[in-house]
Amino acid sequence: MRSKIVAGNWKMNKDLAASKILANELVEGLKERSVENTRVIVSPTFVNLASVNELVSASVVEVAAQNMHQAKSGAYTGEISAEMLRSIGLNSVILGHSERREYFGETDALLAEKVNTALEHGLEVIFCFGEVLEDRKSGNHFDVVASQISNALFTLDASAWKHIVLAYEPVWAIGTGETATAAQAQEMHAYIRGLITDKYGVSIAQELSILYGGSCKPGNAKEIFSKEDVDGGLIGGASLQASDFIAIVDAIQ
Ligand code: PGA
Repeated sequence: MRSKIVAGNWKMNKDLAASKILANELVEGLKERSVENTRVIVSPTFVNLASVNELVSASVVEVAAQNMHQAKSGAYTGEISAEMLRSIGLNSVILGHSERREYFGETDALLAEKVNTALEHGLEVIFCFGEVLEDRKSGNHFDVVASQISNALFTLDASAWKHIVLAYEPVWAIGTGETATAAQAQEMHAYIRGLITDKYGVSIAQELSILYGGSCKPGNAKEIFSKEDVDGGLIGGASLQASDFIAIVDAIQ
């Protein structure tokens, strides 16, 4: 059975003290809950990864990085390698977030390199993709998503897919307060699972967790998560408040 996942992307928010407070609140808040077959992941900014990871180590909460560099090591001032993430005990990294694509020029080809490097170093990849508003309006959204996935991931061996989580995040819904409807999310997730089925077969596609992201909140999470092909969420804004994030974890039970 594929895992359900609720992942919080803290983006460039929360200094060290605030990150520790939020992490502690999550650990405490989730202690009493039985989170069966559900993974809870948080993704603080690089400088707070090690502290937060230590703090949550005895809890259900896992920690993922928001990005990493494609090279193994070398003269890349200001960058962070997969090995460095592993060395502080991390097992997962988010790659391909639309903000990385838009503001930092990350292309499908670059992301293919990053994915390979992450997997080579034993990191699970939470791979993000999604169409912009013009693509949705022109009915191009399925093609855009298909090319983002195939360009970055379709050279992978079948065995690599155990370490991949997909996150469909329509760009028009990220941080805008506008959410895809549950029906729109399900339609796209079913399409994505179909793409993976065609390329890698039904068992890999059925085991793959596909998350929805984009203005997911306590008020709409339950409906979105109720859809057959939606296996959880990648949460931005609503992951910054423990009570909201825990309510979203509750919504998936
Ligand atoms: P949002 O962000 O929940 O604030 O829309 C989602 C994301 O960027 O992953």
